[in-house]
Amino acid sequence: MASPSGHPHVFDHHSDRANADPRAYYAQFRTACPVGRTPAHGGYVYTSTYADVVRVARDDATFSSSREADPDGEGTVIVIPRGAGLEQFPIELDPPRSTPYRDLVDPLLSPDAVARLRPMIARHTARVIDAFIERGSADLVKDLTNPLPAAVTLYWLGFPEADWALLAGPIHDIFAARAGSERAARGAAGLGVMDQRIRSLVRARRVEPHDDAVSVLVRARRPDGSPFTDDELVSVIGLLVAGGVDTTTSLTGSTLVHLARHPAQRARLIAEPDLLRGATEEFLRAFSPSQSMARTATTDTSIGGCPVSHGERVLVAWVAANHDPVVFPDPDTVDLDRDARRHVSFGIGTHRCAGAHLARAMFTEMITQVLTRLGDWTVDEDGLEEYPTKGNQTGWDAIPARFSPGPRVAVPNSTLVVESTHEIAEEIVSVTFTAPGGGSLPDWEPGAHLEIVLPSGQLRQYSLCGDPTDRARYRIAVLREDDGRGGSLELHHIAVPGLEVGFRPPRNHFPLLPADRYLFLAGGIGMTPLLPMIRAVAASGTPFEVVYGGRRRATMAFVPELEPLGPLTVVPYDEVGHPDFPHRLAGTPPGTAVYACGSPSMLAAVESACTAVGLELHTERFTAPGDPGEPGDLSNLGDPATNTPFEVVLHRTGTRLSVPAGLRLIEVVRQARPNLAYDCESGYCGACETRVLAGVPEHRDSLLTDTERASGRTMMICISRCAEGPLVLDL
Ligand code: HEM
Ligand code: FES
Repeated sequence: MASPSGHPHVFDHHSDRANADPRAYYAQFRTACPVGRTPAHGGYVYTSTYADVVRVARDDATFSSSREADPDGEGTVIVIPRGAGLEQFPIELDPPRSTPYRDLVDPLLSPDAVARLRPMIARHTARVIDAFIERGSADLVKDLTNPLPAAVTLYWLGFPEADWALLAGPIHDIFAARAGSERAARGAAGLGVMDQRIRSLVRARRVEPHDDAVSVLVRARRPDGSPFTDDELVSVIGLLVAGGVDTTTSLTGSTLVHLARHPAQRARLIAEPDLLRGATEEFLRAFSPSQSMARTATTDTSIGGCPVSHGERVLVAWVAANHDPVVFPDPDTVDLDRDARRHVSFGIGTHRCAGAHLARAMFTEMITQVLTRLGDWTVDEDGLEEYPTKGNQTGWDAIPARFSPGPRVAVPNSTLVVESTHEIAEEIVSVTFTAPGGGSLPDWEPGAHLEIVLPSGQLRQYSLCGDPTDRARYRIAVLREDDGRGGSLELHHIAVPGLEVGFRPPRNHFPLLPADRYLFLAGGIGMTPLLPMIRAVAASGTPFEVVYGGRRRATMAFVPELEPLGPLTVVPYDEVGHPDFPHRLAGTPPGTAVYACGSPSMLAAVESACTAVGLELHTERFTAPGDPGEPGDLSNLGDPATNTPFEVVLHRTGTRLSVPAGLRLIEVVRQARPNLAYDCESGYCGACETRVLAGVPEHRDSLLTDTERASGRTMMICISRCAEGPLVLDL
């Protein structure tokens, strides 16, 4: 029995002390007695370090998720104490029995599949926020974080709208209630209703399929060609609803409370929208919506030196792992710049969350719309209500909030339609968008940019270069960057009239401020945000000059539009070299506002020349391609010079593929298997772990143990390569 020295207390993750501050509670045990046995809730062994949590969760042969491993008692064994409800597949099965169900859901929740759901998620989020934004106050749980994930998940699956509110409440109740309470009984009864609703939907879709996820599931077959039964599908779909909704509710609620309490972090996220991608992993780590789960030992074994007997229950404490200072220094600080991708909030091992990409998509959409539409929200601290027990799942029951009332946005405004595209210079296309079905778009001012959600799910920002008085259309110009992050290539390939993309209303971090005269300095595609400014200044009659540098004339867009506006110096590098900024700026009258946009090296030259002559500089910088952590980021490719090409065979189909030195294995495999499951692309999370049937992998991940590496039976295909080929993979 364990109790940290000086504290006569038996470990219980549902105790009042644990609930008061779960992180401090685990920290105390981690220091004094990191693994131990407790008699609470019928007895179990708890874990508190990252290493032990990962070891237990990844070793599914020794630590089972199945009800059969603990035949005494009723209900699920993947939480402590055991919970109510029908058996859920695949989460309550061990491999290989879990595998067909996992193979069933993975293609529906792959990164590509979720990318296609993003415009729908944006539309629902806009609609849910519209319902309260004019009031200036809301309960962010009841009005946003609970109904949005429920609506998105149920719409995606194919449930009629009448079911959304009916099912959202019970799912929240089952997670928020203390075990054995009246509210837990209400939640359990609600789950019964949910099972009935799922069963009738499955039956309806068998008769008449629609364009929804349940229709895909009823059509799916096992490898032997047999269909899944109604009972199996009810179980899987029940898990998708119950597992995905309240966890996302919890993550979003905790983040909204945190950001209201830390306005400087909120201001950073508003000013630097790209920060949200990495910060999402930090919020997942810090708030750990699913705090703990459980396994049952299938044999006598040990964890961290503590003997564990066959049949003993083991608490797998995700929150404790996420706050282990060995892996996350200063773990209680929420640090927006931390690389938190090693967190285990989505679990790890064979049951790692199948819905991680959908969860992130719903979360980032809710947070982004809150930041952009009610960015000054405050929470009423006295009215906040946390879950009564945070032992298994943490979260908020009520988050009363106030904010400046804002306008509703017409729901279609979350989607734009490509009206036309034109090649306006070598490798530059201009794309014009309208609202679906016409109508006016949110307004903008010179210098503003538009955020576009590409069909692949990538979020990209483009400066607007059209006419701000034309409320019916937006125009952007996109330079093809073959070695960029893929967004420009995607737009070049797919932007055809009629294509729909998600978008967020324009924002302006590069405003045109009043001045007596202006000097505009542009490098290449950097002319884009300056063009509307130059037009506005020309129309106002204020004196100005433009200096426009580029590689060659043919690569320089907009020259015909600029020429009639006023004084323009075009400086093609192949004809006259780089513009001489020090010389040009030395002759510029004092009081001139200098607006510059271009490559980092050009801006550095302009900045030092402006400082030398005391001129005020306004700039817009482009982000360097390949930020760490972006999808498509090749920083984990390794050095192509030391990579060797190799052959890979996908055993199940017999497909043979060549992996060149300049591509990762997963990129090549995805060409044949587009719905492959993967996540971190860095060898941390295990989502892409694949069985190796022949060949010798060259492991580059940071997850496999030395024994696993030596056995060569499994590998992380996102990052690892081949030492001896061909590699034959169980795919
Ligand atoms: C922030 C939100 C979410 C969190 C924190 C979360 C957390 C988790 C965790 C910790 C597990 C591992 C369970 C285990 O090891 O026993 C898991 C599994 C799972 N999650 Fe999520 N989840 C989230 C959202 C979602 C969503 C949106 C869906 C789908 C709609 C989903 C579907 C699943 C499924 C199907 C499994 C079981 C996978 C298997 O057994 O192979 N989750 N989740
Ligand atoms: S995708 Fe995370 S380890 Fe490969």
